[in-house]
Amino acid sequence: MKPYRSVLTHHRTLRSLPALLVLILALVGAQLDAAAPITDKHVKRRVELMTSQKAAITTLADMMAGRMVFNAAKARAARRSLIKSTGDIRKRFKKPRMDPHSHARPLIWQQWEDFETRAERAEDAARQISAYTRNGLLRTVPNMVQACLSCHETYRDTPNDFVTH
Ligand code: HEC
Repeated sequence: MKPYRSVLTHHRTLRSLPALLVLILALVGAQLDAAAPITDKHVKRRVELMTSQKAAITTLADMMAGRMVFNAAKARAARRSLIKSTGDIRKRFKKPRMDPHSHARPLIWQQWEDFETRAERAEDAARQISAYTRNGLLRTVPNMVQACLSCHETYRDTPNDFVTH
């Protein structure tokens, strides 16, 4: 079993839990300027969707890191939440809406099919999360994180450059 094998393609690989956790931190640390007021309601909704994903991933990461005692019910709820939210990505992004505070790249709507594919991959990864044991999380959450980050790398403006390479 090689849980962390090529979690990230390109220039980074994850071989350890600490490395994964740093990456998760980069992912969930990503947010809009504290009080950035997004006025467009469609943009607001898609950012809310992403924020809920951040909450779910944080719960799972806390259990993986041992910061929170493993709790199967909570882990399963986080998994369900991720399945739902990743399944909604397409719908929430379909309309090409922009906002000065948005980090979405216009490329999304130039390459809509690829964006949809990334969203589908994220949904698959969410379904494949094994939430019954901590080991299950350790084995399956890296793939989820990879799906989040790989979409961000292409379609979100702030690069995921928290991990130096
Ligand atoms: C299919 C592409 C895609 C996937 C998959 C994806 N995201 Fe995102 N995410 C985006 C885009 C695009 C934005 C920027 C949205 C905006 O600002 O309008 C974003 C924004 C965010 C933000 C807010 C950052 C900011 O700019 O304020 C967080 C947090 C976030 N995503 C977490 C996640 C997590 C956690 C996952 C995986 C469970 C995930 N995302 C999966 C495309 C994606």
